[in-house]
Amino acid sequence: MLSMFAFFLSLVLLPAVFVSGLGTSCSSPLGAGTASSSDPFWLESIKHQGISAFNSNPSGYQVFRNVKDFGAKGDGTTDDTAAINNAITAGNRCGGGSCPSSTVTPALVYFPKGTYLVSAPIIAYYYTQLIGDAKTPPTLLAAASFDGMAVIDADPYIPGGNGAQYYTNQNNFFRSVRNFVIDVRSVPAEKPQGTGIHWQVAQATSLMNIVFQMSMAANTAHQGIWMENGSGGYMGDMVFNGGKFGMWVGNQQFTVRNVTVNNAQTAIFSNWNWGWTFQGVNINNCQIGFDLATGGLTEATQSTGAVAVIDAVVSNTPVFIRTSQASNGKLGGSIVINNAKLTNVPVAVGVVGGATVLAGGSTTIASWGQGDVFTGTNPTGKFTQGSITAANKPASLLDGSGKIFGKTHPQYASYAVSQFVSVKDNGAKGDGKTDDTAALNAIFTKFSGCKIIFFDAGTYVVTSTITIPAGTQIVGEAWTVIAGRGSAFQDQNNPQVVVKIGETNSQGIVEITDIIFSTIGPAPGAIVVEWNVKQPSGQNGGAGMWDSHIRLGGSAGTNLETGQCPQSGSGGTTNCFAAFLALHLTPASTAYLEGTWVWLADHDLDGDGTSRVTLYSGRGILSESAGPVWMIGTAAEHHTLYQYNLVSAKAHYMGLIQTETPYYQPTPAAPAPFSINSAFKDPSFGNGFTSAWALRVTTSTDIIIFGAGLYSFFTNYSQDCLSGANCQSQSVNIDTASSVTIYSLSTVATTFQISVNQQGIVNQSGNVNGFASTVTAWSRS
Ligand SMILES: *[C@@H]1O[C@H](CO)[C@@H](O)[C@H](O)[C@H]1NC(C)=O
Ligand SMILES: *[C@@H]1O[C@H](CO)[C@@H](O)[C@H](O)[C@H]1NC(C)=O
Ligand SMILES: *[C@@H]1O[C@H](CO)[C@@H](O)[C@H](O)[C@H]1NC(C)=O
Ligand SMILES: *[C@@H]1O[C@H](CO)[C@@H](O)[C@H](O)[C@H]1NC(C)=O
Repeated sequence: MLSMFAFFLSLVLLPAVFVSGLGTSCSSPLGAGTASSSDPFWLESIKHQGISAFNSNPSGYQVFRNVKDFGAKGDGTTDDTAAINNAITAGNRCGGGSCPSSTVTPALVYFPKGTYLVSAPIIAYYYTQLIGDAKTPPTLLAAASFDGMAVIDADPYIPGGNGAQYYTNQNNFFRSVRNFVIDVRSVPAEKPQGTGIHWQVAQATSLMNIVFQMSMAANTAHQGIWMENGSGGYMGDMVFNGGKFGMWVGNQQFTVRNVTVNNAQTAIFSNWNWGWTFQGVNINNCQIGFDLATGGLTEATQSTGAVAVIDAVVSNTPVFIRTSQASNGKLGGSIVINNAKLTNVPVAVGVVGGATVLAGGSTTIASWGQGDVFTGTNPTGKFTQGSITAANKPASLLDGSGKIFGKTHPQYASYAVSQFVSVKDNGAKGDGKTDDTAALNAIFTKFSGCKIIFFDAGTYVVTSTITIPAGTQIVGEAWTVIAGRGSAFQDQNNPQVVVKIGETNSQGIVEITDIIFSTIGPAPGAIVVEWNVKQPSGQNGGAGMWDSHIRLGGSAGTNLETGQCPQSGSGGTTNCFAAFLALHLTPASTAYLEGTWVWLADHDLDGDGTSRVTLYSGRGILSESAGPVWMIGTAAEHHTLYQYNLVSAKAHYMGLIQTETPYYQPTPAAPAPFSINSAFKDPSFGNGFTSAWALRVTTSTDIIIFGAGLYSFFTNYSQDCLSGANCQSQSVNIDTASSVTIYSLSTVATTFQISVNQQGIVNQSGNVNGFASTVTAWSRS
């Protein structure tokens, strides 16, 4: 009887759960895009009804703004500067220098196709997405008389402000610019005003699908991107033509993927960083590929700390990588090159006015490093300028040409607006109050696989698990929030999932873009996202998310703000639990995560925008996935037990990963205020282990860490530990059963940079590289 019943059940359930790509049983599957060539991009024509749930005037505040509705002409001759800036600033938004941050005034500022002439910067306020028509990207044309820092400025200097800026560079979150041609060629070549984007930003930011057109004159002072500092971030899918510099960039850490620079004098100039990862950079007909200011070995003289370059293709360029100072047996500029194909590039690595470090030619560099290289449990590193261990790259992580696979943030440019449905048109409210659980589950049942599901801006509250089935594509609007609230998420001994991505063992397409997953506190028993879905066979990246984040506390409506949970801890723990676990990749899943910030708030983005909060989230990212998993430009910060925990994981490419330990630790010592739960593969604490692991890898194979910035800045909210660089004793732990290769690992204030079986191996003191210490490569043997 029982087995008959089980057999019957499996017949009924299997099609819904296991059918690839379809997910649910809708009658007319989505299929290919049906937009006609004359249709505008669907985002232009879809009904605009997104709201900001926690704005003081939710029904009056406008999230979506079409610049043409604000008077921009896009005719190539009318000066559209004022109209575009009016579209951005309308609605008492966060800018001007008096507002450090806000989550209640989001805006998606849309540019139909056309050519927009500007004579001064387009000022991108906090929490703004600037999005052009993806079918025919609009041109932002700088007038000959253009005056200002850049065509788009994400963090203006206040005139007469003695260097004061609108936003603190490390807290300049939630920005995206997409689908533009930025043309500065009318600006006289010798004027540096001919700059495309001033992009001084931090986490949860992206640039994508942008072409920069600059002067190719010998005296060109034009540049594509200018970035002096910040704490980013992800950018990709960009083309730079001409200019003195394609990118002139400094920032703590950043991930760059799929960038092409043609005919610039210098493709990429780096003034300072702790670590950057460049994946898939193509450089053609430049004079220098990477020009790195190096040699600063102290915090005060910080220059380029670490650069890791994978899958570069360089042609007809005299020098691929050049440092300003010779390394002279010291670090001062760690370099990793993995799979670089050079054609007519005489010098692969050189020094300004100095010797060639690595000869080029027409050749492929398999795996080369400059810096301190370690193996296994040997505490003694070897300063190396030469070949280094080449990580085994499982074929599942690669594209057809042997490069690490990459997939662009889907925008559905070929789809007609009729192929989308709005969740608000189908019963969900998104008002931050109404329980939308049933409405959302019904929407997925009805439309997954048949329509692309548009989550109009808002905060959608759910009170029990919702499942986004295999076969679903969802698109948010200036970061639509899905938040778990209530009694289902209260028991840390019986944690419950807020959002399931696919049922267990399901397979199919899932694409998630521009969504924030969150909780309304307290939520000690919330697993914010459980990722179960596996990509369809042969479709790399078929299960993924882009520009989507997990944000816990520190924003309006979360009930985990300065009012409830101030830094002092006077809010206690009971009311200040934000989550049990933020993101869980389960064993049968695959995942492509690009630009994912898994953040427990350390300060409140609303209120005064600077006050710290003391909140508790047990765990950051747990991956048990058998792979392939790509984590491209991801970060996890302030979770109690760990930021990244890989257990029996396989075939993961992770570059760059960035972490911070909770500021309050070791008071209380981890795992408090949580307890160890072996069902979730928690590490053990005690015996002197009191702080969160940044990265822990257990019984895992083929794990490639290509760039990491793992930081510990505080003990018990004091930064006194920075001077002794001893805020934490250990932060990366690898067990002896795992095969892991780590490149370009920069840590801050952590005594041991790498531990094996919880024994500290690599002492940072030998690898000081400015503010951080850098291990250029570590491998098992
Ligand atoms: C960022 O750069 C600006 C301009 O050079 C400088 O004034 C500021 O001190 C820098 N901030 C940090 C944190 O490096
Ligand atoms: C790389 O970027 C270009 C230009 O935006 C785009 O056409 C191409 O599809 C991208 N390739 C990948 C692998 O993302
Ligand atoms: C942590 O800092 C607070 C505030 O400065 C202090 O009162 C407390 O004694 C410190 N705790 C420990 C264990 O150092
Ligand atoms: C790390 O190395 C420094 C310099 O040699 C040494 O003073 C320190 O004791 C070492 N730390 C540990 C925990 O071994």
